[in-house]
Amino acid sequence: MSHEVNAVIARAKGQPVELTSVLVPDPGPGEALVRVQACGVCHTDLHYREGGINDEFPFLLGHEAAGVVEDVGADVAGLAPGDFVILNWRAVCGDCRACRRGEPWYCFATHNASQKMTLADGTVLSAALGIGAFAERTLVAAGQCTKVDPAVAPEVAGLLGCGVMAGLGAALNTAAVRRGETVAVIGCGGVGDAAILGASFAGARTVIAVDVDDRKLDLAKQFGATHTVNSREVDAVEAIKDLTDGLGADVVIEAVGRPETYRQAFYARDLAGRVVLVGVPTPDMTIELPLIDVFGRGGVLKSSWYGDCLPSRDFPMLVDLHLQGRLPLDKFVSETIGLGDVEAAFDKMHRGEVLRSVVVL
Ligand SMILES: NC(=O)c1ccc[n+]([C@@H]2O[C@H](COP(=O)([O-])OP(=O)(O)OC[C@H]3O[C@@H](n4cnc5c(N)ncnc54)[C@H](O)[C@@H]3O)[C@@H](O)[C@H]2O)c1
Ligand SMILES: [Zn+2]
Ligand SMILES: [Zn+2]
Repeated sequence: MSHEVNAVIARAKGQPVELTSVLVPDPGPGEALVRVQACGVCHTDLHYREGGINDEFPFLLGHEAAGVVEDVGADVAGLAPGDFVILNWRAVCGDCRACRRGEPWYCFATHNASQKMTLADGTVLSAALGIGAFAERTLVAAGQCTKVDPAVAPEVAGLLGCGVMAGLGAALNTAAVRRGETVAVIGCGGVGDAAILGASFAGARTVIAVDVDDRKLDLAKQFGATHTVNSREVDAVEAIKDLTDGLGADVVIEAVGRPETYRQAFYARDLAGRVVLVGVPTPDMTIELPLIDVFGRGGVLKSSWYGDCLPSRDFPMLVDLHLQGRLPLDKFVSETIGLGDVEAAFDKMHRGEVLRSVVVL
């Protein structure tokens, strides 16, 4: 049997998204059917719509979600109807070469549902990041459901499913910011502000927010930025050096995904500093750097996939910290919207008006 539900799809490259009805199969072995309660609008959804991720249209968009398990496949253990869960895109396999060497946050064979969701005419949908949660119900691998304290608001919890986790994890896991370090974050959207919050939480003494939009810089202060730099007005690299005794930051986190901002990150760090790329570039982007600078400046150049998180380790902990009042995750929710408002939310994201619009169902 399958369920007919309302959902938001991107039918073709660059076309506005559409609210339409899709078919969601009952869960088979290893799968779970989830009633989505909230799903944030992430810049990666827009990348999908623009054809920046791959060409497997049509996409069922949405991947920052929380909801309630409605049904599970016959062989599923540890998950039951009624459980409140955050959906993750890292259901680790336990068996690939990354998992076997004890680095499951790099898992190269993460689980997704085996059955496909489709349009009414049978056209197979590609679920964004194997989730597809701008939908009243979605089908995922059981391992993509991470149980957390149901006391948290779904619109806040869902954000941990992608952007907020990616930013927090870029600071806490990938960069492993230490107490007293200096950190700069380039790009202060939902992801960048989460990196600022993570750096602040880790005890960084200086947290420099860099953006081209003053409204974003004002918001960044609420997440712990100690200084702000508008890189449309001043040179970002020089400004970051000025704020770090002329040295550059110990850690620079790039949360835009463009060559020019990566170059700023590369040159704005101190010798032997760490650069973390969490912004997602498009396949056509390239960067040229003097190899002597790569060598001579030393340190670490890393990418952060999903904040190097382990959902089962990190989501319940971060929800608990939030419920204790120690991690203001609710500040990422700029507005709650309906399923029909996703295209308008992309426009607001483009105009820099929101950190996160969250679809509430
Ligand atoms: N690595 C991951 O696992 C992961 C997860 C989620 C999102 N992302 C990526 O992170 C990036 C940010 O996502 P988001 O949802 O926060 O997007 P967003 O659109 O909300 O924020 C981007 C921010 O960058 C700023 N910006 C744009 N150009 C700039 C420039 N030249 N210099 C400085 N700032 C600039 C914008 O003003 C905006 O505040 C995207 O590329 C997204 O795909 C990565
Ligand atoms: Zn694995
Ligand atoms: Zn995302």
